[in-house]
Amino acid sequence: MIDDEKPAHRSPSPTLARVIDARIGRRPFFVGLAASAAVLAGGASRLLAAASRLRFPEVTHRRLAQGIEVAEGYEAKTLLRWGDPVLAGAEPFKPGKSTAGAQAKQFGYNCDFLTFMPLPLGASDPKRGLLCVNHEYTNAELMLPGIASRHAAWANASASQVELEMAAHGHSVVEIEKVGANWHPATDRAGNRRITANTPMRLSGPAAGHARLRTKASPDGRTVKGTLNNCSGGATPWGTVLIAEENFHYYFGGEPKKSSFFDTERLNFKRTGIRGRPFYGWYRHDKRFDVEQEPNEMNRFGWIVELDPYDPRSVPVKRTALGRFKHEGAAVVRNPDGRIVVYSGDDESFEYIYKFVSERRVDPDNRAANRDLLDSGTLYAARFDADGTVTWLPLVYGRGPLTRENGFASQADVLIETRRAADLMGGTTMDRPEGIAVDPANGLVYIALTKNTGRGKRRPVNVANPRERNRAGHIIEIVPPAADHTADKARWEFFLFAGDPKSPAHRQRDGLSVSKNGWLVNPDNLSFDPTGRLWITTDQGPDQPRSRIADGVYATEVFGPGRALTRLFFTVPVGAEPCSPIFTPDARTLFVAVQHPGEGSGFDKPSTRWPDFKNGVPPRPSVVAITRIDGGPIGG
Ligand code: FEO
Ligand code: CA
Ligand code: CA
Ligand code: CA
Repeated sequence: MIDDEKPAHRSPSPTLARVIDARIGRRPFFVGLAASAAVLAGGASRLLAAASRLRFPEVTHRRLAQGIEVAEGYEAKTLLRWGDPVLAGAEPFKPGKSTAGAQAKQFGYNCDFLTFMPLPLGASDPKRGLLCVNHEYTNAELMLPGIASRHAAWANASASQVELEMAAHGHSVVEIEKVGANWHPATDRAGNRRITANTPMRLSGPAAGHARLRTKASPDGRTVKGTLNNCSGGATPWGTVLIAEENFHYYFGGEPKKSSFFDTERLNFKRTGIRGRPFYGWYRHDKRFDVEQEPNEMNRFGWIVELDPYDPRSVPVKRTALGRFKHEGAAVVRNPDGRIVVYSGDDESFEYIYKFVSERRVDPDNRAANRDLLDSGTLYAARFDADGTVTWLPLVYGRGPLTRENGFASQADVLIETRRAADLMGGTTMDRPEGIAVDPANGLVYIALTKNTGRGKRRPVNVANPRERNRAGHIIEIVPPAADHTADKARWEFFLFAGDPKSPAHRQRDGLSVSKNGWLVNPDNLSFDPTGRLWITTDQGPDQPRSRIADGVYATEVFGPGRALTRLFFTVPVGAEPCSPIFTPDARTLFVAVQHPGEGSGFDKPSTRWPDFKNGVPPRPSVVAITRIDGGPIGG
């Protein structure tokens, strides 16, 4: 339902048919660039594995169903549901009677990013931990009775509905503990926290305090209320969580052209897709979301937010040095020299892949010394060339075209309009960058490009995005030289082309012998398990009702004969996408967020009532914990 495919701009990409053919012609190969890098980085034993180590029996590709299904020999238990109590004194969930007051102490809606932070910080075999969960967006038509459709949820939004929606957004920090083989939430712990669209936050880094970030409520441009559309994220080595603000344009209504700022912010409004046609009715009840009233408020969203889950009183911080765009997530790497690198994709068709390199090195012995590490450094956009090189283009005020002639008067301007800076620097437009994962063993980087049906004659393919009307998506692999993520150049290769081998519309190009259940479309989140296999979730979005196939979680080896041969492990209910597969350090539990079950239907007649399956109870976005019945590691 929520689809980010519509691009907010046109940026020309050269036709490179010749070089594409040259690169595609080199596929498939199982051990290429990645193999040599793995040997260099000490990953040879994995490379030489005789066969795939993934031993689970596959789930069958199936038509949409009301429940979940996991591979035989495993069980998936619901851990936390929308509306479950999180804070002390929280009311129990009351189906159809949700209120903002109750919601502010309960688990929020549409769980997306998850991360598990051990208790205490640094524990290697923890029996307790903090589950940190993003609540990306809301579906009022599924949360409350009597709302006919998503359109009605926008058009007729009452003040109380808007307050509920705001309280159901944001993030939850919930302590969980392991009893026997199972994890349980510990509600009402003092360390639990709910963050909403109204939680006070700070802005820091080069754009903080800039005139374009000042509003009536924040005359110094350094404070902001809340975070929006938190999609994926990451965790830092010093035990903080990064949460990514993605589709912030959905929240801003009014008439941009009537705003007194329209002339100066015209390109910015255009480039971020703020056209006064939001998905939410918030602007009618809260003036800060009305661009006529408070045109700078939109500049205060679209950032990466850092929060300390170990301190429930800490003030979350929007780190402007990492740029402003529709951040899918934040994949954090500690570079061999101690600097921190954060990869982040901009999830919209024809947008870019970015990385941020910190100026300073992390101090592993002094947590406080890393507090503002993400405030200074360099942001880059990626250009992919036909010779297999990725060039990282610095987005630095005064360099190249990033000057006054093009509307940039400072680094703050470059960061506020990151997309426009990347256009001018000549980044490669991608097929909707979603998840990014870095192999902890050797530093190879994997990037999911979920789809882009917009490439054709007018907006041609390019070397890294070679399929016209790319319905199925693909995954790219980047090999930094000697695992140095700060280098200006790296090598790149295709990892897989998604698609049903039998579907002409998918234009599957791999020719790999993936099983009849193992092929996937629309890769979204990526993560590695502790033994180095890559786990991939899919999100067909509005294509799911057409395909009638459930979205799922797949796993694959990245080296050896099992490279890119994805296998299906878990499927989710109708309307849902699985998000953010993450493992406990012992690999014995896999957590998955099941987001927006029943999307496309409504409270009164939902397409599923998962996970409760009780009359009158709507579907509830939930986190599930998957374990092996014999207690062994996930995936075999
Ligand atoms: Fe929130 Fe890019 O999915
Ligand atoms: Ca999502
Ligand atoms: Ca996503
Ligand atoms: Ca997606």
